Amino acid sequence: MVSCSRIQHGRKYSHKCANYLCSDVTNEPALRAAHQKICETLPPIIGVLNGAMVLRDISIQNMSFEHMSDVFRPKVYGSIHLDRIFQNEKLDFFILFSSINCVIGNLGQANYAAANTFMCSRKYISELHLAFPFLPARKAC
Ligand SMILES: NC(=O)c1ccc[n+]([C@@H]2O[C@H](COP(=O)([O-])OP(=O)(O)OC[C@H]3O[C@@H](n4cnc5c(N)ncnc54)[C@H](OP(=O)(O)O)[C@@H]3O)[C@@H](O)[C@H]2O)c1
Repeated sequence: MVSCSRIQHGRKYSHKCANYLCSDVTNEPALRAAHQKICETLPPIIGVLNGAMVLRDISIQNMSFEHMSDVFRPKVYGSIHLDRIFQNEKLDFFILFSSINCVIGNLGQANYAAANTFMCSRKYISELHLAFPFLPARKAC
């Protein structure tokens, strides 16, 4: 997690500052603890980006459950956890880093393509929720 700001309590700082907190996006309690720490010690969070990624390139024929879950966890569970944690917070942006790979495919990366496709659909569901707020979009998973 990286928190960047030039403004604190309405005062502009003359320098930029960045704070780094290590957290595992697949571990929801740890992520909530990091979120809590940021809320208590740093300026308000205005946006979230999930760029966490693990690659395990291998053909589908030889793909084990671990090959799938290693790749799925940061993108799928990480996105779900962040969505849950921030679902009631007003953010300027909520960005999930997918890849063109989920459209064009890539040899040995079916697991990565599937995880990225989830991120695209998740983003789509959230946008659908903006258009139709009566849909429980951010609680879909
Ligand atoms: N680079 C490209 O050309 C490209 C193209 C299209 C899309 N993207 C997307 O952009 C994003 C970033 O790509 P990148 O090239 O910057 O990847 P990267 O250099 O491999 O960085 C991925 C980061 O994710 C972290 N990570 C893995 N599992 C995590 C977890 N459970 N919790 C928290 N962090 C975790 C890794 O930390 P550790 O090092 O500690 O494991 C690593 O710092 C990815 O989502 C990727 O799909 C990249």
